[in-house]
Amino acid sequence: MNSPLQMIVDCDPGHDDAIALVVAAKYANLVGVTTVAGNAPIAATTRNARIVLDMIGSSAPLHQGAHRPLVAPPRDAAYVHGESGLDGADLPAPSRAADSNDAVSYIIETCRATEGIWLVPTGPLTNIALALRSAPDLRDRIAGISLMGGGTFGNRTTVAEFNIWADPEAAAMVFEYGGKLIMSGLDVTHKLQATPERIAKVRALPGRLAAVLADLFVYFSDVYVSRHDNMLGGAVHDPCAVLALTHPQLFTTVDQHVRIETSGELTRGMTVIDKRGLIERLDPNCTVVWDVDAEAAFDVIVDSIGSFSN
Ligand code: RIB
Ligand code: CA
Repeated sequence: MNSPLQMIVDCDPGHDDAIALVVAAKYANLVGVTTVAGNAPIAATTRNARIVLDMIGSSAPLHQGAHRPLVAPPRDAAYVHGESGLDGADLPAPSRAADSNDAVSYIIETCRATEGIWLVPTGPLTNIALALRSAPDLRDRIAGISLMGGGTFGNRTTVAEFNIWADPEAAAMVFEYGGKLIMSGLDVTHKLQATPERIAKVRALPGRLAAVLADLFVYFSDVYVSRHDNMLGGAVHDPCAVLALTHPQLFTTVDQHVRIETSGELTRGMTVIDKRGLIERLDPNCTVVWDVDAEAAFDVIVDSIGSFSN
């Protein structure tokens, strides 16, 4: 049995970020958690991250990060996640504040002290871009970056997915960093839906955590089903960035070239994926995740929740 992958999850909880933290805590060595403004302002995403870590009994360090994007104005996703960023359940109060408000220094120092850590961003890429800009040596020290973001269609604009759209300048820096990069975009995450049948599996688990997460899944799924054509449940986006590392056998990937549009009037925040089948195709800089065994992946999520709920 190989030792579990080491990872820092950089997140903006966020319902699906919360599930990503639970899966990472179960199936990886969750070295630390950093937060970024995204689904909600930084104070809310940090509070929510602490609450999730409390609920699973994790002692992983928690460091607060960027309160706004590099250039773009701060914009949230309260229409999806609620004003708190984690609406829909009766949550406990956080046990304490973050361990610092300098996520970027934490990322740099931790990745320099321990080689081979994966950075797993599940929100806007502001912290990751700032760390890479301040410490370019991280490219050769980390195992890579596995992110949730992008895709061939958008959810915030016609072509831009929220995590990329929220901070396109940061995303461009990350996609150009030159190291190992795995992208789980909407093309795969929309195939992993929290259907009523799947939520029922969470609800059937014993313990308070399962009940709370089932409530969060219901809230999140109600938003998605009401806003989308033909969706049976919320797209469980962020756990894909973790599962692509811990359970790669559940996914289908293609190495392709991906760049970020930062200036297009209609396309700012778009991940431009070179899918051409011709010799002029650009050399790959990214492993793009296209498909998932959704039933098996959600069972891993259920198993993760069950391991902490009692
Ligand atoms: O577009 C989906 C992404 O935006 C997910 O990471 C979700 O949590 C939000 O941050
Ligand atoms: Ca997120």
